[in-house]
Amino acid sequence: MATVVPDEKDMITATLRQWVADKVSLILTTGGTGPMPRDVTPEATRPVLQRELPGLTEAQRWTSFAKAPTSILSRALAGVADRTLIINLPGNPKAISECLPPLLPAIRECLRHLTE
Ligand code: MTE
Repeated sequence: MATVVPDEKDMITATLRQWVADKVSLILTTGGTGPMPRDVTPEATRPVLQRELPGLTEAQRWTSFAKAPTSILSRALAGVADRTLIINLPGNPKAISECLPPLLPAIRECLRHLTE
């Protein structure tokens, strides 16, 4: 399941809340995590999260840093709402291919716990 939502904080928050209510296991957002005024994905995600998992986004930034020093411009958040794991990713597909693979073991383990 995928959807495209404009860079509009309230619309992003409403979409996340709806998918949490629908018991989606994993929500990956892409884009809107940077420093520009229109980048509002972290602000839209924060009110939905009940528990933050900062390690998932620290790892995104630091595992990419040697290859892509701009990775630390991402303000991505991650965490849990009910039984849903939500992770903000950057918007650039190449950036996703750099920072998502190292997270996969932790994502798998987290989803295992959330479905227990
Ligand atoms: N992460 C990786 N691995 N590689 C990259 O090239 N680009 C960064 C960062 N994360 C990048 C990256 C840049 S330039 C920005 S501005 C931020 O992600 C935020 O991107 P977004 O606004 O598309 O979410």
